[in-house]
Amino acid sequence: MSQSRGEWKSKLGFILAASGSAIGLGNIVFFSANAYRFGAGAFYIPYLIALFALGIPIMILELGIGHRARKAFPEALYEIAGVKGEWIGWFGLLNAAVITMYYITILGWVFGMWIGSFGSLWEPRPVPAFGLESGTLSNSMSFFFDMISKYDAVGYVMLVWFLNGLIVWWGTKSIERAVKVFVPLMWLFMIVLILRGLTLPHGTNGLLLLFTPDFEVMKDINVWQGAFSQIFFTLSLGFGIMATYASYLPKKTDQTSNALTISFLNCSFEFIAGLAIFSLLFCFAVVPSASTLSMTFFVIPEGIGSFPVGVKLFGILFYTLLLTAGLTSSVSLVEGIGAGIIDKFGIGRRPVVLTICVIGAIGSVAFALPKVIDPGLANDGTLGLTLLDMFDHWAFSYGLLICGFLECVLVGWVLGADKLRAWIDQNAFIKLHPFFDVMIKWVIPIVILFIVVVSIVQESTSGGIYGHNFVVGENRNLHIFVLAMWIIFTVFGAMILTGAGGFRPRKKTGRLLDKEEQE
Ligand code: PHE
Repeated sequence: MSQSRGEWKSKLGFILAASGSAIGLGNIVFFSANAYRFGAGAFYIPYLIALFALGIPIMILELGIGHRARKAFPEALYEIAGVKGEWIGWFGLLNAAVITMYYITILGWVFGMWIGSFGSLWEPRPVPAFGLESGTLSNSMSFFFDMISKYDAVGYVMLVWFLNGLIVWWGTKSIERAVKVFVPLMWLFMIVLILRGLTLPHGTNGLLLLFTPDFEVMKDINVWQGAFSQIFFTLSLGFGIMATYASYLPKKTDQTSNALTISFLNCSFEFIAGLAIFSLLFCFAVVPSASTLSMTFFVIPEGIGSFPVGVKLFGILFYTLLLTAGLTSSVSLVEGIGAGIIDKFGIGRRPVVLTICVIGAIGSVAFALPKVIDPGLANDGTLGLTLLDMFDHWAFSYGLLICGFLECVLVGWVLGADKLRAWIDQNAFIKLHPFFDVMIKWVIPIVILFIVVVSIVQESTSGGIYGHNFVVGENRNLHIFVLAMWIIFTVFGAMILTGAGGFRPRKKTGRLLDKEEQE
């Protein structure tokens, strides 16, 4: 094993980095947007079921795989199932790459809003976006569309890529340093925001909505798909990222307690973020029409804008919070993808980081394309935003679940879930129940398969989820183009990357680890 791989200096460093990866835009805005879209009170129960039935077992599994192999995701899976396993690893990482590109675009826009929050976001807007009549758009909405239809946004996106490159440049060392500052800050800002939300008049109304269960809506498969994808995304699962972070841990570390700690930190952050946002919005009767992006960019600033005092202060606080949370997540994405390439091809870290940043930035810029294609704002406004929405649909709602499914099949059926369990239990304080094997082998794959198949059938027959319908419907050609691009990039891209090392001398690991590595 190469000696040059990074290693976390302390357990705290790892926990901060992994929870920094997990806590991101997903916790602050995607959660609230999803909860609202699926009927608030209808969301929490499927969400909690998803957390315990899928989230925690797969977190244990991913940490276990990475820690056992002490290699990045594709190499770790190669050790389990040869090239087929490796292909799955690359599929996960390439799907993660698509998500990274638009995640960073969104962060670039957040940066634009952050600049605006120092002043112009709150002022009445003289120039309405896209030439629509003034008064037709709210302030924040017009600020946002104005910003994304200018080339400044492209600059913001590049800047965020630069910051990411800088933080992963020295690997675990610099990541550890950054998360030690960012993660505590993030918690502090969130606590201030929740105190503000709950002390507002009627601030508790939103909470009632969030916690009044609605059993009718739970019959809808979309609610379950939404909850499952949300759990994968928020815990950074199905990306191979947690496996990579765990691969930098020393040999004797307890993955079960790590998994529980990270999941607990992440979901409690998500919980208080949900409280803060729902109380904040409902206090001012701002009804989130709640696509994720509208939540981030118009609904929340509109809520903050109607504060009696402290608009600027809380606005700056909110966007600083988003930026820090988003950065510690995007950094883990870049690191995970980079580690895959470094570990397989044995190339140095610097050139790999540089290449990823350049290619990634090109992708992110495509999503930030300011070309206006929908001046009436019936849908997304710019070409970039439309593309983002469509790629997100495949990479987020399907890609993560597919990767999670394949991981479970690999561990459950090829390696043997009992073997992984035995490995994890060696150093674990809480021993895993043998039922873990049943979950990994049967329950989780069947549930995911069911959800994915039903969603695809629904999507290709009726209107589909999220208003997308790639069979008929508007923008049909663009939908098909995006789907084809996503498949080429992830499925074929993974084949190329897997095949590319065919000539590379492999250790004779075959399906099992060699002895020194098993210690
Ligand atoms: N978990 C992050 C969030 O909630 C997103 C993310 C996914 C980050 C995967 C890294 C890896 O925003």
